[in-house]
Amino acid sequence: MTQSNERFDLWTPEAFVNPFPVFDRMRREAPVIDSKHPLFLCPAWLVSRYRDVVEVLNDSERFSSDPKKLTPEQQQRFAPFLTGQLPLIQDNMLGADPPKHSRLRSLVAKAFTPRALENMRPLISQIAQNLLDVVEDRSEINFPDDVMFPFQITVIAEILGLPVGDHEPFRDLIVSMVTPPSEENRQRLNRISGYFVEYFNALFAERRVCPRNDVISALVAAEAAGDRLSSQELLNTVFLLLMAGHETTFNLVCNSILVLLQHPQELAKLRANPSLIGTAIEEILRYSGPLVTAGPRFVLKDTVFGGQLIPAGHMVAALLLSANHDPEQFDQPDRFDITRSPNKHVAFGLGIHFCIGAPLARLEASVLIPMLFERFPDLRLAITPDQIRWQPTANIRALTSLPLALRGN
Ligand code: HEM
Repeated sequence: MTQSNERFDLWTPEAFVNPFPVFDRMRREAPVIDSKHPLFLCPAWLVSRYRDVVEVLNDSERFSSDPKKLTPEQQQRFAPFLTGQLPLIQDNMLGADPPKHSRLRSLVAKAFTPRALENMRPLISQIAQNLLDVVEDRSEINFPDDVMFPFQITVIAEILGLPVGDHEPFRDLIVSMVTPPSEENRQRLNRISGYFVEYFNALFAERRVCPRNDVISALVAAEAAGDRLSSQELLNTVFLLLMAGHETTFNLVCNSILVLLQHPQELAKLRANPSLIGTAIEEILRYSGPLVTAGPRFVLKDTVFGGQLIPAGHMVAALLLSANHDPEQFDQPDRFDITRSPNKHVAFGLGIHFCIGAPLARLEASVLIPMLFERFPDLRLAITPDQIRWQPTANIRALTSLPLALRGN
């Protein structure tokens, strides 16, 4: 980061707690700025205005998702990003351009349809009920550990059709997949993923012979124009679904509870009219969405963008959370309003890579959040506002814990 860019530093303790003043300054003074990627920490141009973020996400020709299209010299700029992770979790639709992207996505979309997911609502409600039953008699819980983690793992396991006995190996796998790249983490991931490669390959073989009503069976069978997913693509897709769906939905629900408790009038509106849960979730995605940036994009030819020359081979990071607070797009963007309309936020991205799991994330949130507030009418934070802690990362809005008192004093 150059000295002048330090005014837009997202890596300070203050910015981890509240990045919005930095985003405001960026949008006003340096909307396209030479900095570093919020997750990979390699050189990247940060794009903060709504209209520019929309342009980046909608133009997959100018802003490629595929780092393999760079020359070997250009790839050197991103050595930790390209070598710090396993191909298993890099070589997937998120890191592909058309036509490979279209092919992978259409095969997965056949298995991951909104209708199929909506059929899971009763099962997801049952999973949530069971977990709230377990904590029912306690006076205080740490919501992420006690409810959200088991909820999330059980739901994704049911949807994919994974026989999950012990949650711990899954927790290890998911945590290591979303940890910033490093040699240490690469070795850890290598170790854990070895176990899961065998586990999933055995499962694919079983589902080929005895299909069930689950996403893995549908993926194994998915066929379009005589085309199927290869064994490697199947494996990479399942890893992608586990990785892309976990931290995001996990933090969406945790952030939702915090934001609603911090805005008692909006919470009262929701309690009085539960049908507002749909617009409430969209507003939480906009106001405190879990993901700060979309995946990295690569400029394949010199391009002038937002008044800046971005040379060929450079990386661009579209700041979704900043775009979602852009006053040019949203009226009073820092006001939390669960009835906001229109609300064209970009928390799920846009264009060809628009989140394929958005219906599942919305479904999980719309089941668990109302159930929690209904079951515990006196629910409140068990810590004072100054004790709220955020993870020290610029790429995800994630609480370190969320202690909740389940009953009144
Ligand atoms: C609140 C929860 C979620 C948020 C905020 C979120 C956000 C996003 C965003 C911003 C993208 C686009 C990235 C880009 O353009 O580089 C994306 C893509 C994707 N998401 Fe999600 N996601 C969520 C939940 C899920 C879930 C539950 C799943 C699946 C289980 C999932 C699977 C995917 C996949 C497979 C892609 C790649 C799509 C493509 O490349 O065509 N996501 N997500």
